[in-house]
Amino acid sequence: MAETKLSGIKDERWSLHGMTALVTGGTRGIGHAIAGELAEFGAAVHICARNQDDINKCLEDWNNRGFPITGSACDLLSRDQRENLMKNVASIFHGKLNILINNAGTNTPKKLIDYTAEDVTKIMGTNFESSYHLCQLAHPLLKASGYGSVVFVSSIAGLKALPYSSVYASSKGAMNQLTKNIALEWAKDNIRANSVAPGPVKTLLLDSTLKFSGEVDKGIEIMVSQTPIGRLGQPKDISALVAFLCLPAASYITGQIISADGETKLSGIKDERWSLHGMTALVTGGTRGIGHAIAEELAEFGATVHICARNQDDINKCLEDWNNKGFRITGSVCDVLSRDQRENLMKNVASIFHGKLNILINNAGTTIPKNLIDYTSEDVTTIMGTNFESSYHLSQLAYPLLKESGYGSIVFISSVAGAMNQFTKNIALEWAKDNIRANAVAPGCVETVLLDSIMKSSHEVDKVIEAMLSQTPVGRFGKPKEISALVAFLCLPAASYITGQIITADGGYII
Ligand SMILES: NC(=O)c1ccc[n+]([C@@H]2O[C@H](COP(=O)([O-])OP(=O)(O)OC[C@H]3O[C@@H](n4cnc5c(N)ncnc54)[C@H](OP(=O)(O)O)[C@@H]3O)[C@@H](O)[C@H]2O)c1
Repeated sequence: MAETKLSGIKDERWSLHGMTALVTGGTRGIGHAIAGELAEFGAAVHICARNQDDINKCLEDWNNRGFPITGSACDLLSRDQRENLMKNVASIFHGKLNILINNAGTNTPKKLIDYTAEDVTKIMGTNFESSYHLCQLAHPLLKASGYGSVVFVSSIAGLKALPYSSVYASSKGAMNQLTKNIALEWAKDNIRANSVAPGPVKTLLLDSTLKFSGEVDKGIEIMVSQTPIGRLGQPKDISALVAFLCLPAASYITGQIISADGETKLSGIKDERWSLHGMTALVTGGTRGIGHAIAEELAEFGATVHICARNQDDINKCLEDWNNKGFRITGSVCDVLSRDQRENLMKNVASIFHGKLNILINNAGTTIPKNLIDYTSEDVTTIMGTNFESSYHLSQLAYPLLKESGYGSIVFISSVAGAMNQFTKNIALEWAKDNIRANAVAPGCVETVLLDSIMKSSHEVDKVIEAMLSQTPVGRFGKPKEISALVAFLCLPAASYITGQIITADGGYII
């Protein structure tokens, strides 16, 4: 058995050991990368495709590398063959399947007016109907595993109208909606569902789609010019996100459609995609709750971290605890509401990290729960100042340090849609040229002091909790560690094709 990824990290949340997975279309392109990535995390994987020779070649290569991957021929267009595939999988994995990756897909580019009934049947059948049916067939196995995860490989074509792809786009749009319905219906069975929507990725499918236009080079040029930093994706850019969504580390993420469609280069940084060794990070509000979990998670991945908060005693306690655990974390007092203190903080960080910062986590946030009509202008200044303006200013201050690092990543800990989420997209667009990515994580209800204080402000705490839980498919509040895992993932080189995204981790609350 090959050594698995992240074996240095003892945390079981970052392992797929003991888990089983089915990946459709695993012989080339994105599916091939996914099968390898899941196996590297310790999962036993089964793949299918139509061509038996291709399967044999892949299995030989994987088995030589020590990966326990099996495979069988299946044309997913055939209902009977799908049923046989799932019987086969049930027998190999003793009735338990943890992971179903609906990846196989096809496209026949044409003008909308030219599609025949056969075209529609083939594209919808391969991309959507087969995935729908495989989910139905896999349900008892996913449920029996006690920890199930479905990931659809969708496409940005399902989110944005692209030329010559009306049927393909419809199949992916349907897939995105199905993701949310599965997340809602099967949360009670401990099954999550998410969809990954890649931008253009260098595979045979993309080549054949571009050949239709007769101008492959021009097609690539246009796509690259529309991607903020300008290169096509690689299958490994997509497989990393798919694998992350299957890890226990992603256990509060369900019903999400996540795009992976923009890229930054790893200049000057080691090419270890799942490590933050040699990187530096600033986490605001790092003494408790989500920020505390993020600081620790980044340090576990090898980053050197600086935190800030308002209370020096709290900082000291945290640093002592982290230093005892061997993490390289420093900290200083800063009230992020004060412009001067923000400037001092960044000077401090520049001096500690020798002018280079890889990661800025704008986490510190506050709330004063009131009815809309009762908010005073001081309340608005405090909330907008702490949550938005400070993040805006810190991003400006950090810009030269992020640029200097050669590999920068900003993550906003957002919540409700609003200023921060839009700002994320603008940074992603403007600073992509400087190898700086920006993403926002929007947590649902997470068990922290902030949530406690919101609850206490209500006269009917129990009723409020009951109402929130009844609207959360997974039926519980999140834990800080479930947010920090997503934040850490977004900062890893493994996530280098993800920028400008607002990703919700809410147990399905707003799907
Ligand atoms: N490449 C991109 O730019 C891009 C962008 C967005 C989304 N995607 C999505 O990513 C997924 C993978 O695409 P890719 O680019 O990796 O494609 P690819 O390189 O063409 O690989 C497709 C895989 O699916 C298998 N497959 C195709 N039709 C099948 C069928 N009827 N039954 C069983 N297996 C079948 C193929 O093997 P056989 O031919 O032997 O069956 C192969 O293993 C697709 O869902 C695609 O829509 C791709």
